Amino acid sequence: MSYSKKPLGQMSNDLANRIRDLERKNSFLHSELERVNRERIEYLQNVSHQLVAPLNAIKWHIENLTSGRVTLERAKKVLRSIYSQSTLAVHLAKNFGLMSNLDADHALTALKEPLETVNLHRLLINLADDFQPLGWDKGLGISVEDESLAKAPDVLAMRPLISQVFSNIIENAVKYSDRDSKIMIDGSHDATNHTVSVTVTNKGIPLMAEEVAKIFDRGYRTKEAKNLYPAGTGFGLYIARRIVEIHEGRIAAYPDDSGRATFEVTLSVRGLEGKARQIAAKDSSPYRR
Ligand SMILES: Nc1ncnc2c1ncn2[C@@H]1O[C@H](COP(=O)(O)OP(=O)(O)OP(=O)(O)O)[C@@H](O)[C@H]1O
Ligand SMILES: [Mg+2]
Repeated sequence: MSYSKKPLGQMSNDLANRIRDLERKNSFLHSELERVNRERIEYLQNVSHQLVAPLNAIKWHIENLTSGRVTLERAKKVLRSIYSQSTLAVHLAKNFGLMSNLDADHALTALKEPLETVNLHRLLINLADDFQPLGWDKGLGISVEDESLAKAPDVLAMRPLISQVFSNIIENAVKYSDRDSKIMIDGSHDATNHTVSVTVTNKGIPLMAEEVAKIFDRGYRTKEAKNLYPAGTGFGLYIARRIVEIHEGRIAAYPDDSGRATFEVTLSVRGLEGKARQIAAKDSSPYRR
């Protein structure tokens, strides 16, 4: 056993300093815990608020249909709305599931999916069809340019996750577009770098160049987005960025002077080249369709 040679007074001073230090750390951890809890509650409130809206709309439409007082023409419209509100509810539920995984420390390993060949042109046509009814009320058109995207090769990717990336970008475009405008989806193949890039362009709420770096952060929303849709979580683009990073791809936003915003996602035709490949290959996750 070794004994300290410090005098007793000095030792009690050291001890008092150490206790003060621990108290400071403890109080910091305590306030961090409170902050995380507050964020969690706020997030759950937002989630429930966002999910309740389309579900209530569906309920209301069904009540309307079963009243027996609607004409055939009206019934068709109501069914279209039921379809689009269900699309939105499924989209939101998938984001919330992904978010609980991304929030955890084991973020990367929680998102294991087998890699498969994904035809981005087909995937985007299906998503555009899914989201088109949501844009009808605003007179929005969503078009997928056939020219170069149709000729691009398939990419190797985790299909349900990549689908959610574009779902988040397209849902934003629908939500934030001006009335009677067009959402354009296009793409190109870079044979030298073995990548396919997809762009989604819309015209709507302003996006400043200085905000671009922040919109992919967890929870960041611009003032205009908050005014238009107070219940948003600001997690859509964060989820998209994380998924693209897992794929070792790139995601970026380019606003222009005419008020348009273009979101670009670049993915490798060859799939994951680095360490994420081994993680992805191991086994499957609950996010299969
Ligand atoms: N097409 C767009 N045009 C202009 N700004 C956009 C566009 N897409 C996203 N943004 C901006 O980026 C922010 C972050 O987007 P993100 O999808 O992460 O969150 P959100 O749409 O606000 O909320 P949530 O996705 O939970 O509904 C938005 O709040 C908005 O300010
Ligand atoms: Mg969003």
